Amino acid sequence: MDFQVRDECGRHEAAGQAAPADVEYAHRDAHWIDIGTLADIPRRGARTVRIAREKEIAIFRTGDDHVFALVNECPHKKGPLSQGIVHGHSVACPLHNWTIALDTGEAQGADHGCTPTIAVRRDGDRILIAQPRARKAAA
Ligand code: FES
Repeated sequence: MDFQVRDECGRHEAAGQAAPADVEYAHRDAHWIDIGTLADIPRRGARTVRIAREKEIAIFRTGDDHVFALVNECPHKKGPLSQGIVHGHSVACPLHNWTIALDTGEAQGADHGCTPTIAVRRDGDRILIAQPRARKAAA
């Protein structure tokens, strides 16, 4: 099973929340990459990271300090989600205003599509994202 970057919609718990048992099990096998501290991400905003040759990843921090990671591409026409407006646990795409759920990457309302999500966890104040298995195997 691959619980890291997904080619389809998938739910990851926000960093700081209790993980379901199956996700927790997967996390024990994951390789985690430290991408900075919570303070490095603006509240109700995002920062981006690119690891090796992978797609750019947007790391979101919500108003209640949950952290989510998604590929930085809207499922509509690849708008940069990191530049969108975060409200609740969703982000509004800056190009055509689709609303994307941060935990699943799924478009909301009448829109259809999804953005791959990446597992995130917190270790104290540090934010770590799961390294995709394919990249781990190649390392
Ligand atoms: S590219 Fe995001 S809504 Fe169109």
